Amino acid sequence: MRIISVAGARPNFMKIAPLMEAFAATDGIEPMLVHTGQHYDERMSDLFFRQLGIPEPDVNLGVGSGSHAVQTAEVMKAFEPVVLAERPDAVLVVGDVNSTIACGMVAVKLGVKLVHVEAGLRSFDRTMPEEINRVLTDAISDLLFCTEQSGLDNLRREGAADERVFLVGNVMIDTLLKNRAKADASGILDQLGLATGGYAAVTLHRPANVDNPEVLSRLLDVLEAVQRDMPIAFPMHPRTRKNLGGSALAGRMEAMTNLKALDPLGYLDFLKLMSSARIVLTDSGGIQEETTILKVPCLTLRENTERPVTAEVGSNRIVGTDPENILAAYREVMDGRGREPQIPPLWDGRAAERIAQVLTERI
Ligand code: UD1
Repeated sequence: MRIISVAGARPNFMKIAPLMEAFAATDGIEPMLVHTGQHYDERMSDLFFRQLGIPEPDVNLGVGSGSHAVQTAEVMKAFEPVVLAERPDAVLVVGDVNSTIACGMVAVKLGVKLVHVEAGLRSFDRTMPEEINRVLTDAISDLLFCTEQSGLDNLRREGAADERVFLVGNVMIDTLLKNRAKADASGILDQLGLATGGYAAVTLHRPANVDNPEVLSRLLDVLEAVQRDMPIAFPMHPRTRKNLGGSALAGRMEAMTNLKALDPLGYLDFLKLMSSARIVLTDSGGIQEETTILKVPCLTLRENTERPVTAEVGSNRIVGTDPENILAAYREVMDGRGREPQIPPLWDGRAAERIAQVLTERI
């Protein structure tokens, strides 16, 4: 069985790594890896391949950045000839980025089975490009692998037949558990002069937060307050850096003497930074899950989450972008108020194995 797995953007790489490993170890699966090139900077892509031991992609489509329509269309144009030449038995896509839906559409229109890993997540916010990508990819997938119960519930409500849907756990958590010891050896805290449990880690990259100067300015109010309490480490996504570039907001950030604005970090350094933080503030999807397994308090600077289990049982709180609300939640965390976080079912490091097993039975 020949399976083409697709990775395009940074959050895909930690999901693809354990799948490639499980496929290589499974009799009867002939894996192939396609990188769409949606992310292309050394620190957004190659570094992750090296650190996570992901095999060199068989093909790199080299698509790069563009508007949503351009990026999606370029991936489709470049991926179609690959599928025609290779004639795989299945195409596997992960997550919710533009590369996910683009390659998914190419596969099903060529009559190739489509497998979606991290299916069924819903923020119910159609202004998020990822929500559109999730809904559409799930609608055309043959096999749907979910990380949490809400995914199954959402897919059932949307009419997916039970025999197509599997709760298997979380491949991104497979990667985290596998790399935790290695990350512990990272020297990032020493490099930045940070003490375990004595700083906040921040990431921001959602268009709704960083493309809108009003919202971004409110979030800077929060960072101003937090950095008066403790140092902030802020590895900055290229989108965020570009938006700040030369603006009045950049000046405000530079004036925060206790905030360290960093280039994007590699996987191991970032895992170390997250796991040793007193608190994490983020608008990322994946970081809500990673802090859950690490039991590090996380404030999600969004109005909603597609990963409700992280807030129901994990260490995550959805706090929006109003500074007062965020700082109230922040103070609760600092005061040690809140419940003891739990680990969601099946987040045990074996999700990729389960997926490989189902694929050998079903394709
Ligand atoms: C994409 C995903 C988002 C994911 C995020 C993680 C979509 C719709 N969005 O958003 O779901 O959470 O990745 O990073 O697919 N850039 C670089 N170097 C790179 C890549 C991008 O400088 O290697 C810059 C470019 O200026 C580009 C901008 O970042 O225009 C945005 O990149 P893009 O791939 O369009 O979306 P992300 O914001 O990264």
